[in-house]
Amino acid sequence: MRRSRTQVGIIGAGPAGLVLANLLTRAGVACRVVERQSREHVEHRPRAGLLEHRVVASLRRSGLAGRLLDDGVEHGWCAFRCLGDDVRVDYGALTGRRHWVYPQQWLVRDLIAALAGHGPPPMFSKTVRAVEDISTHRPRLVCDGIEIECEYVVGCDGHRGASRAALPAARHRVFRRRYPYDWLTVLAEVARPAEGVVYAVHPDGFAGMMPRTSRLSRFYLQCAPGDPARDWPARRIHERLRARLARLPEITGFADVQVLRMRSSVTEPLRHGRLLLAGDAAHLLTPSGAKGMNLAIADATALAGALTRRYTDGDHGALDAYGARRLPRIWRAQEFSDRLLRLLHLPPEKDGDAAYALRLRRAAIERLGEPGPHATAFAHEYVGSGAGEDTGDDGWP
Ligand code: APR
Repeated sequence: MRRSRTQVGIIGAGPAGLVLANLLTRAGVACRVVERQSREHVEHRPRAGLLEHRVVASLRRSGLAGRLLDDGVEHGWCAFRCLGDDVRVDYGALTGRRHWVYPQQWLVRDLIAALAGHGPPPMFSKTVRAVEDISTHRPRLVCDGIEIECEYVVGCDGHRGASRAALPAARHRVFRRRYPYDWLTVLAEVARPAEGVVYAVHPDGFAGMMPRTSRLSRFYLQCAPGDPARDWPARRIHERLRARLARLPEITGFADVQVLRMRSSVTEPLRHGRLLLAGDAAHLLTPSGAKGMNLAIADATALAGALTRRYTDGDHGALDAYGARRLPRIWRAQEFSDRLLRLLHLPPEKDGDAAYALRLRRAAIERLGEPGPHATAFAHEYVGSGAGEDTGDDGWP
């Protein structure tokens, strides 16, 4: 068994792990990323695609937004489609802030390239089998054929990674919600890109449409909980999308079709000894509010600042306060995503007349289309402007 050492061991080369690695490396803190998938896999895995204004501003400040600013597309409105009407929320005009449409896998590609110029590349196709000794000053990453002795370990390895398996059962709690439906997630080749983010509230079920690239758009279809993807042949997908969205670009093919179990969760606390959690390892969010990737990058940015202060100034305060600072923001994103999901999905039949529920939602949607404090508050939450949130000393609103 080979052995190596570093200051910060990072599990996972997703947005959280790669932003953290880039920021630490630039600050002179030694770190190493271990990723179980190949580089090819992580650079081509379709995931999220909307970056919040403050995330782009943070990446730009760190010099990590190179290609994003060239190839990304700014976007400032979304529409709710209900009972044949479209209500458009121009959140860009209401807040002065816009999203950037930029596929997550492109950002991962950029962050891997950015790291190459400053520090050791991620160890790809290397699975962390266990995280040992997190209560000591020398936690270890046990991988196939190599052990990496660290001073801190950051779990950026998603919801089913090795870091969560290392959490002491009696000293952490997972708060979770399982929704009474799932989403079919469809990455489709389109004759022209989806013109914007459209949420359709329909008696047959929710449908969503989001732009990704000039040739690909992401679609979502509410389906029964546990529905297998094999029950959704192309014809049925086309038919349900047309029924629920009414207007959509011509789909010429499907690049990826999967069923997403709709659930959310938060793990508390975010730190155990020398193990810290960030991104999906710390919290799971449904795609409804496009918060998952943005929250992951925010965690990584805050944690990079705290670890840098610990190593450059010997100041442990920010590191000790990491969870206390991040959890209120994580719960705020959870609450927004849950509230948006309730708006987009009709309650199960047993809860009463679906037609009544549909008109209730149309009334709520119409309020979002009327300029005023209600629509403006929604717009700030949706675009992640950070308005109304205290801006901490990590510069993260
Ligand atoms: N050893 C090494 N790597 C691992 C292990 C392990 N035991 N377990 C998981 N990983 C890797 C995965 O292969 C993945 O590449 O950890 C990485 C976690 O990356 P993400 O799932 O992208 O998580 P995160 O960086 O927190 O970003 C969250 O990704 O899942 C989407 O929608 C989500 O947009 C959000 C974003």
